[in-house]
Amino acid sequence: MNILITGVTSGFGLAIAKRLAKDNHTIIGTGRRADKLSEIKNELGENFIPLCFDISDLTATKSAIESLDNGILTNIDVLINNAGLALGLESADKADINDWEQMINTNVLGLVNITNLILPYMTANNSGLIINIGSTAGNYPYFGANVYGATKAFVKQFSLNLRADLIGKRVRVTNIEPGLCGGTEFSNVRFKGDDEKANKTYEKVDYIRPTDIADMVHYVINLPPHININRLEVMPVAQTFNGLTVVKDL
Ligand SMILES: NC(=O)c1ccc[n+]([C@@H]2O[C@H](COP(=O)([O-])OP(=O)(O)OC[C@H]3O[C@@H](n4cnc5c(N)ncnc54)[C@H](OP(=O)(O)O)[C@@H]3O)[C@@H](O)[C@H]2O)c1
Repeated sequence: MNILITGVTSGFGLAIAKRLAKDNHTIIGTGRRADKLSEIKNELGENFIPLCFDISDLTATKSAIESLDNGILTNIDVLINNAGLALGLESADKADINDWEQMINTNVLGLVNITNLILPYMTANNSGLIINIGSTAGNYPYFGANVYGATKAFVKQFSLNLRADLIGKRVRVTNIEPGLCGGTEFSNVRFKGDDEKANKTYEKVDYIRPTDIADMVHYVINLPPHININRLEVMPVAQTFNGLTVVKDL
């Protein structure tokens, strides 16, 4: 199969690429860091096609995707929309508008743009699978998640709406919604390089690993073609709900 994964230079994307490469698929892997993409190319070899571009740049994305060999471009079997980020954990009144813009441009615009480029080939082939990486942040509010959570709520509803549009087509869409997962650069990015703060998030927590997410992606890809998992929400056992908050004497 031809599998396009956005954001393979670390975290989930890297684990997914390594997992799927074991099954001899052709992996087209994207990211902004050319050096990381070359390292992966060295490790995975000729079945790995690196594409270096910023997914929030719609024009750069279009030209990178269109640079693919036509036989591959028109026959992407699986698109994994994984690239994304959270920036900051401040309350909305203290947040930086540039952070909000970057999250929306990456998690929302970047994701819909790449989907818009690939989906017409899937419908023309009457075959394909799109796996979006959403988040539990799209389902449950938490302090400081403001725009990040909203982008992931968008990803969830976009995934479901794609299924509605794809009525009568053999094109599947699954939104994987992970909770707390360590072993990625997610919190280092969120806290803008403050690794001490990032590490604290995972201290003494038995979190989900990127390889767990890769196994779930592998499972979804290998389901019989008549099955569509709409949403796959997953949390570590160590994480649970906090309920609604009531403040006394406000
Ligand atoms: N870790 C968690 O707890 C968690 C939980 C739920 C959902 N998620 C979601 O899972 C996805 C992967 O996150 P992760 O934890 O694996 O984080 P990560 O280690 O920081 O990986 C993020 C990936 O996205 C790529 N990326 C970010 N901005 C990009 C841009 N503008 N253009 C191109 N690529 C870009 C990065 O590549 P470059 O830096 O090379 O561009 C990197 O490969 C994200 O959508 C995240 O929101 C994570």
